[in-house]
Amino acid sequence: METLNQSTLDDRFDMPGTHKASTTPDHRVSAGIGNEKLRIAGLSKRYGDTYALTATDLVVQQGEFVTLLGPSGSGKTTLLMMIAGLTQPTSGQIWIERKDATLAPPHRRDIGMMFQSYALFPHMTVAENIGFPLRMRGMRAEQVKHEVDTILALIKLPGIQHRFPTQLSGGQQQRVALARAIVHKPSIVLMDEPLAALDKALRTHMQAEIRQLQKALGITVVYVTHDQEEAMTMSDRICLMNNAAIEQVGPPEDLYFSPRTLFAGQFLGESNCLRGTLQGIDAGSGIGKLQLASGVTLSGRVSESAKVGTNAVLLVRPESVRVNGSSTAATNQLGCTVDECTVMGSLSRTRVTTLDDQVGMIAVALTQAVKPATGGTAFAMFDANDAIIFGDGHV
Ligand SMILES: Nc1ncnc2c1ncn2[C@@H]1O[C@H](COP(=O)(O)OP(=O)(O)OP(=O)(O)O)[C@@H](O)[C@H]1O
Ligand SMILES: [Mg+2]
Repeated sequence: METLNQSTLDDRFDMPGTHKASTTPDHRVSAGIGNEKLRIAGLSKRYGDTYALTATDLVVQQGEFVTLLGPSGSGKTTLLMMIAGLTQPTSGQIWIERKDATLAPPHRRDIGMMFQSYALFPHMTVAENIGFPLRMRGMRAEQVKHEVDTILALIKLPGIQHRFPTQLSGGQQQRVALARAIVHKPSIVLMDEPLAALDKALRTHMQAEIRQLQKALGITVVYVTHDQEEAMTMSDRICLMNNAAIEQVGPPEDLYFSPRTLFAGQFLGESNCLRGTLQGIDAGSGIGKLQLASGVTLSGRVSESAKVGTNAVLLVRPESVRVNGSSTAATNQLGCTVDECTVMGSLSRTRVTTLDDQVGMIAVALTQAVKPATGGTAFAMFDANDAIIFGDGHV
């Protein structure tokens, strides 16, 4: 196996962000504190001249639900397949339960799998499907039956032992696949878009069910999705991937409120983006001033990626923007035209266009008795601490 370190990768291939991905502290290989289940270090995969995954580090603790989230082609499945042992890494190492599993064959890794395409065996009954991993491990028939019955009760599908997969609904099939993935009590369960084929209502239901079961049984899960809502709902931590590398790792609220890059800010949730030039940064507060094309200036927290005198983007969440008819003491105020205000029960959503720069913005707020009049002028306001200024050119 060829061994490559990060600098050789970067020398050979022009991959912006790879250094950052492997050196940012939140997913750096930790000092081994806590009850570590999975550790990957410098793991990469190259196909021909292209890296499906550049050198990646990640540690997952016992009982954690970690989601790999990212756009299509960002390397999520590649990372999961390497953890499973179904794809050989180009470089790096994998430890499961603190044992080096880098070269171990899939069946020697203590792992359960549930993939969208990993269908149930059609010629086997439900009981045979679920019992399969147990029989593979040499468990006696009576014990297999007992374990299968127990888990079917747990997933609330008792009495379907003798049915075949074609005699089950889509949701039932996924539940059986889930049972098969966890029946042998593996160290880690890997799931690759397991709910993608289900309709929205069933998917929401199954998300809650998987999460409940995972918590109740203390299972460690590495889950893949490109649906940010699913990732936000289910995960203890989200590992955001982009361009074959980890962009940011952290609890959903950290990624949402403190994105480290413009990509992270834009990928998760809704955002308002205002482009301009970074004029300067206050050394004490870290608050910077962004000048828009019209000359209007806005203040916000400055991320590492933004440099004074260069193009930058200010990102502010819709729920941090207030739309008022009169000016108040908010740090940032932009005169705007109200395009539309929609009441969605307890929340209202107002679309405005700024007067000077003609930028469309969205504000979400608790519904007020008097809503902003369509076509009227108002101020869109937000505090500097709720806005983040990123360097432009990254996305
Ligand atoms: N066997 C292979 N041979 C060549 N290239 C591959 C192979 N498998 C994956 N790739 C490439 O590696 C990159 C990452 O693929 P991967 O399947 O990991 O993406 P993903 O994040 O899971 O995407 P999706 O959300 O579409 O499932 C893609 O550019 C893909 O084309
Ligand atoms: Mg995939």
